[in-house]
Amino acid sequence: MARVLVVTNRKGGTGKTATAVNLAAELAARGERVLLVDLDTQGHCAVGLGIQVKKGEPTVHGLFASGSPLLPALRESAWDQLHLLPADTLFEHGSGSRDESLLRHALHAEGLHERYDTIVLDTPPSLDILLLNALHAADWVLVPFLPHFLAGEGVRQLARVLFRVASSRPDKGLRLVGFLPIMCDTRIGQHKKVSGSVAQQFGASRMLPGIRNDIRVAESFAAGKPVRYFAPKTRAAEDYQTATAILLERWQ
Ligand SMILES: Nc1ncnc2c1ncn2[C@@H]1O[C@H](COP(=O)(O)OP(=O)(O)OP(=O)(O)O)[C@@H](O)[C@H]1O
Ligand SMILES: [Mg+2]
Repeated sequence: MARVLVVTNRKGGTGKTATAVNLAAELAARGERVLLVDLDTQGHCAVGLGIQVKKGEPTVHGLFASGSPLLPALRESAWDQLHLLPADTLFEHGSGSRDESLLRHALHAEGLHERYDTIVLDTPPSLDILLLNALHAADWVLVPFLPHFLAGEGVRQLARVLFRVASSRPDKGLRLVGFLPIMCDTRIGQHKKVSGSVAQQFGASRMLPGIRNDIRVAESFAAGKPVRYFAPKTRAAEDYQTATAILLERWQ
């Protein structure tokens, strides 16, 4: 049975996609069979893995638009055991099925839980049916956040949604695996303060060491490669490795 990790935050631009792509690549490099699912119609996961999705090709959003199966949408990447269910950049948020459990059922019914060790879900920042589907399908939640002013409010808003979905699920199977500070710098007082307040609210053990500011993350997207392949000897590559090792320990 695959573990399903949702990478989410109600705020935009907090490093969700960079985290989803780079964690997926790290896990695959460690020998796991990994599926990255791009629920955000911006379609940046495909960009990050250098995969071109042509108009009319099957996507994960076909499931929500018309109940299409997921298997025909599976795409291999240039890296072993790292696969993608790409997004449809033309899918209109708010359209399609209202069923919050559609993704959960499809992952089970189409045997994707058996095919993979980890399924990573990248999510849109909006609170819509796609995010709710991700939260119903996942076992673990990872929250990347920018340790800036207002970050605490975004995290608190997300916590309310998480609590609501977790308590509505019959299996009570949604757990917070950690908060991941993005572009963090512990020398900056504001970063320390915001991370400290999130740690105080949700428990210091939930705080992961962060991903430092590194222009190579943005450049690796432009190059269509996870940062461990684009620039292996960099801060970001090192930090994603550390974060992945800690997640794997928590999953033992
Ligand atoms: N550690 C980092 N250092 C420098 N830049 C980063 C880092 N992590 C992410 N970025 C850059 O910050 C921007 C936002 O990151 P990303 O797209 O991953 O955020 P997001 O939360 O997925 O955004 P959205 O809410 O729009 O989906 C991107 O340009 C990305 O390349
Ligand atoms: Mg994103």
